[in-house]
Amino acid sequence: KKFCVSVLFLPLLCSQEVLGEERLKEILKERELKVYWGTATTGKPHVAYFVPMSKIADFLKAGCEVTILFADLHAYLDNMKAPWELLELRVQYYEQVIKAMLESIGVPLDKLKFVKGTDYQLSREYTLDVYRLSSMVTEHDAKKAGAEVVKQVEHPLLSGLLYPGLQALDEEYLKVDAQFGGVDQRKIFTLAEKYLPSLGYTKRIHMMNPMVPGLTGGKMSSSEEESKIDLLDKNQEVKKKLKKAFCEPGNVENNGVLSFAKHVLFPLQSEFVIKRDPKWGGDKVYTDYEEVEKDFAAEQIHPGDLKASVELALNKLLDPIRKKFETPELKKLTASAYPEPSKNRAKGNPKQTVDEEEVIPSRLDIRVGKVISVEKHPDADSLYLEKIDVGEEQPRTVVSGLVAYLSQEQLQDRLVVLLCNLKPQKMRGIESQAMLLCASMLGEPRKVEPLDPPEGSAPGDRVYVEGYESGKPDDELKPKKKVFEKLQVDLKISDEFVAQWKEQNLTTKLGQITCKTLKGGNIS
Ligand SMILES: *[C@@H]1O[C@H](CO)[C@@H](O)[C@H](O)[C@H]1NC(C)=O
Repeated sequence: KKFCVSVLFLPLLCSQEVLGEERLKEILKERELKVYWGTATTGKPHVAYFVPMSKIADFLKAGCEVTILFADLHAYLDNMKAPWELLELRVQYYEQVIKAMLESIGVPLDKLKFVKGTDYQLSREYTLDVYRLSSMVTEHDAKKAGAEVVKQVEHPLLSGLLYPGLQALDEEYLKVDAQFGGVDQRKIFTLAEKYLPSLGYTKRIHMMNPMVPGLTGGKMSSSEEESKIDLLDKNQEVKKKLKKAFCEPGNVENNGVLSFAKHVLFPLQSEFVIKRDPKWGGDKVYTDYEEVEKDFAAEQIHPGDLKASVELALNKLLDPIRKKFETPELKKLTASAYPEPSKNRAKGNPKQTVDEEEVIPSRLDIRVGKVISVEKHPDADSLYLEKIDVGEEQPRTVVSGLVAYLSQEQLQDRLVVLLCNLKPQKMRGIESQAMLLCASMLGEPRKVEPLDPPEGSAPGDRVYVEGYESGKPDDELKPKKKVFEKLQVDLKISDEFVAQWKEQNLTTKLGQITCKTLKGGNIS
């Protein structure tokens, strides 16, 4: 048992943070620790999942009892990231791929316990506890707890508020001493510590590991294709993504490739080899990440060589996983758990070609407009009625709910950005022929600001998302298809105050569309 204590502290030392270290020591005096790691079965797990996997390996080596939870209900509660009809397939995919990862890094599977959320979360006792909890946790606390985990949307669903509470209950129902997760889980962990005792249950220990940045430097996100390497990406795709990754000679800040070596490769391997032409000194073996960083900063390691070496090490980890997924059964599982979005829709409507159905931003007709006149809507206090020149013969009539945020003077003669191909819609009896795009921030009071076109813009200038310059907008977006609604979820104001779709700038031929103050805001 003494042995267990000391070995256990190794993984803890490299974890970012532990809540409840005293209780941890108490338990370890008596028995092995029971710990769980949960994953909501949403998008395809990517290479950053090797970080928790390496921790799981450490926990097992230290003699802990480890449970892995495939949280299928959570995948749905978080804004339906996994659609209802795919929940079961996603769980199967996660189980297969996570087991393949563990095998790839040499973790014995028979020592682990695998559990699916709905196997116990639908029991009478659990369900009653959800209700008990829902009358203790305030809306404010639930929202705050989920802020970094549950997708934040303008009209939050009740399901997202339930999410943190269920995660707290899981600790009790999985009969563990501790939960382990990324630091992004911190607020959910504190909610669990606060509320489990109110239900008469023990407060659990929480251990956290740091988040791994994506290859582009930001958070490794499943929605940003280029920033993440899928576990089943082929060698060429791995090469291509690494090639694109930001990695400047001598610059160790925001360097996704170095972070990857630090957080993923070093914890898994005892050494890391930088492959180099004999001309530049030949291969060099590293056993300590700090040395790599030092040499990179001193430009002793060239970005090209770093990328090639990371590629080699990563392919070694991925090979067994890709190989396992070559069987017809697992190929079929992958395809059915993650159907191609366009294929999926084309099936429902065979006449429609895939292209017409693809939800891409070039289908939006966004233009610069100039406000010619503004008046109050005769029948609605919150609405303005504007005449806006969008580069056509006649100005368009636009109805917008901006009375609470802007005066008529602030809008008069202003350049704005408009979505021009929505189906015209009557608002309190007057047809609105375009939508004035604004940035907004939730909160009390809610803040709203119209987007700003670049200086020197003229009415009618086309606004497009970088990378989607060439497509032709739809003549009119069919309301039922909800094309704008689907794209709108990913429209945001960046930290540099630039309007973006999936982190790609909205621009005109003259420059970026911006917003004065609402960084991080949504666009609608
Ligand atoms: C997007 O806008 C930001 C801020 O102006 C700029 O720094 C960045 O280079 C732009 N991205 C591209 C790909 O042009």
